[in-house]
Amino acid sequence: VIASILGADFGHLQAEVDSLEAAGADRLQIDVMDGHFVPNLTFGLPALRGLQTKLPLDLHLMVSNPAEHLAAWFACPDFHIANVTFHAEAVPTTADRQSLITAIRAGGATAGIALNPDTPASAIEDIVRDVDLVLVMTVQPGFSGQAFRADVLPKLSALRTAYPQLSLQVDGGINAETGRLCRSAGATQLVAASSLLHATDRAALVSHLRA
Ligand code: DX5
Repeated sequence: VIASILGADFGHLQAEVDSLEAAGADRLQIDVMDGHFVPNLTFGLPALRGLQTKLPLDLHLMVSNPAEHLAAWFACPDFHIANVTFHAEAVPTTADRQSLITAIRAGGATAGIALNPDTPASAIEDIVRDVDLVLVMTVQPGFSGQAFRADVLPKLSALRTAYPQLSLQVDGGINAETGRLCRSAGATQLVAASSLLHATDRAALVSHLRA
């Protein structure tokens, strides 16, 4: 269970992160948006430096130039970057994808590739065997609080069938109910922002998502 801080109360971000950690989240997802690849701008390392967390980070790079963001994150001693995911749509060539994966692994993280809801699985045929995970977006990336796209479930199931060992992450509109649907379709990692941030009992929801 990965807690996304998008939509957190940034006036009290440390308290939000402490609460997600106490609730039992396995990782924190950092949604880096550039206002270009997606129509929203969030935060980069300068805005988060100094944040204290024991949780490993999952960087979801919703940016047009992911390669240019890696060095700063990997050089920052404040965080343990466990995984970095870049978008298939932002990095269309196999050579660029391979070189990004190499750079991510050189930084000590696993490498993921993300698919927007309307991008078919065939868009990553060239690289799917070389990545550590595939992130199947269940909303159009850019904003938290959007409705889950159930029409993406067949793509998730097809990836699970084709690649039984692959880590499959889903992100967007995940709550207890949609999380269950995604797990049935083969997801192994659930990312949640609003459902967790608005839950009256965050620990109960984390347990529910994991159960
Ligand atoms: C969507 C982001 C998600 C987002 C999910 O653009 O990539 O990580 O935070 O938010 P919820 O869980 O509210 O749909």
